Amino acid sequence: MIEIIYVSQDGQTSKIAHYIQQYLTSNQIEARVTDITHNVSYTLSPEVKHVVLGVPIRYGNPMSQAKAWLANQDISDIEISAFNVNLTARKPEKSELSSCPYAHKFIKILPEKVTHVAIFAGALDYAKYSWFDRKMIQFIMWITKGPTHSDSRIEYTQWPAVDKFSAELISMRS
Ligand SMILES: Cc1cc2nc3c(=O)[nH]c(=O)nc-3n(C[C@H](O)[C@H](O)[C@H](O)COP(=O)(O)O)c2cc1C
Repeated sequence: MIEIIYVSQDGQTSKIAHYIQQYLTSNQIEARVTDITHNVSYTLSPEVKHVVLGVPIRYGNPMSQAKAWLANQDISDIEISAFNVNLTARKPEKSELSSCPYAHKFIKILPEKVTHVAIFAGALDYAKYSWFDRKMIQFIMWITKGPTHSDSRIEYTQWPAVDKFSAELISMRS
């Protein structure tokens, strides 16, 4: 059984987690999805052999629930894969593990044995943000030449990259 564990504030990491689950179940692999955003004490059940951890970046760091959850788990016998979601990766030249500026920070919160890691571009949706967050993201977008109009709602996630990551999860089983 593969369990996709995620943290998500605005829903895009959740959407990616559910997409991976669909990919796996349509390939006859048992997979479930669990949101730990408000439940970092969630404990894995013994039938879980592989965890996929999905975590977005907020204000330069992976959301803290991921590290808190990992600290509470005995993962010695469990395979772990992980994906990070952020808006910087909307730029192709910053979308790879080797080129995304958050890759290093993300890998740092993961157990050392984790080697299967991906970076995915997230979504921009100003209507979902608080006034302060909207102003901050508009400012960052202005600096990085992204959309600043407060109606902007753009999904940057490259679904073929999520397909590739999901296919790798399957090949790790054989
Ligand atoms: C308040 C806030 C801060 C963010 N900070 C960053 C950041 O520092 N770097 C970045 O690349 N993306 C940043 N993002 C973009 C998110 O990582 C992106 O929107 C992602 O899709 C959010 O995932 P979620 O919808 O699962 O919460 C930020 C978004 C918000 C709303």
